[in-house]
Amino acid sequence: MNAPLGAAVPGQAGALLAELGDRAELHDLYDEVGAPIYHAMAGSETIEVRELVGELRSTQGAILELAAGSGRLTLPLLTLGRDLVALEKAPGMIRLLQERLQNLPVTRRDRCTVVAGDMSDFDLDQPFGAIVLGATSISLLDATGRTGLYRSVRRHLAPGGKFLLTAVNVPGFGDATTEHTLDIDAPDGTRYRMYEHWTKGADVRTVTIFPRPLRPAESPITVCTTQIGVFPIAQLEAEMNEAGLVLTDRQPLPPTGTHHHDVLLVAEVAA
Ligand SMILES: C[S@@+](CC[C@H](N)C(=O)[O-])C[C@H]1O[C@@H](n2cnc3c(N)ncnc32)[C@H](O)[C@@H]1O
Repeated sequence: MNAPLGAAVPGQAGALLAELGDRAELHDLYDEVGAPIYHAMAGSETIEVRELVGELRSTQGAILELAAGSGRLTLPLLTLGRDLVALEKAPGMIRLLQERLQNLPVTRRDRCTVVAGDMSDFDLDQPFGAIVLGATSISLLDATGRTGLYRSVRRHLAPGGKFLLTAVNVPGFGDATTEHTLDIDAPDGTRYRMYEHWTKGADVRTVTIFPRPLRPAESPITVCTTQIGVFPIAQLEAEMNEAGLVLTDRQPLPPTGTHHHDVLLVAEVAA
């Protein structure tokens, strides 16, 4: 087992990993091994698509999508017929996105530019009418990363442009240690059990994904994990204000089947 990642896994998933010992091979969810697993589980989910497309219709000009991953949102956003830059950090995700773009009609594919980059510090040579950060991926950044994100977003928004982001609304912030499991049957037939653990008061929750059923005799067993920040929407709003961005709208998103309640936030450069 990969020691630094394994040491960070609390709760039932941590206990399972300890039990499996060297039979478990632990990966970050977005690394070369994790990326195809994320894509199998979530790559064709349509969550957020309708709301983001609806909101984007009130904007004009090129779209910048941050943390684009394997293109779950990128592909539907390209149906708007606008130029789109998809920025992503993980090479495994970028490869999957590029493969998927190859299967699109050339007119649609040619509207998309894929950029390897970090959403907390990017410098692109153009302004955008809209910047999108979906899948509640702002939770993957720490406070320093978020400050860099707001600064970079503000710099790249065209006059009147909108920053659309989704975030987790966490009502009982830090009240109690909680643990949830979710069984996922991916469209490609692979099956997973996801554990989500949130230690009371911690500013991160840990998501860990095992194959289902677990067959210890068939080692190595690939397990993926990621840490996700937990912070109230009011904190995001205050951070954005500090960075010169103002929230102009918030819409609850339909329930996703998990215990989370996600929201779509719209921000603009403060007057
Ligand atoms: C939850 S996935 C979302 C992917 C895609 N937008 C979707 O909806 O399926 C989060 C993505 O953020 C990427 N990511 C994490 N940190 C990043 C960073 N600092 N800059 C750019 N991408 C990042 C990960 O590699 C991963 O592809």
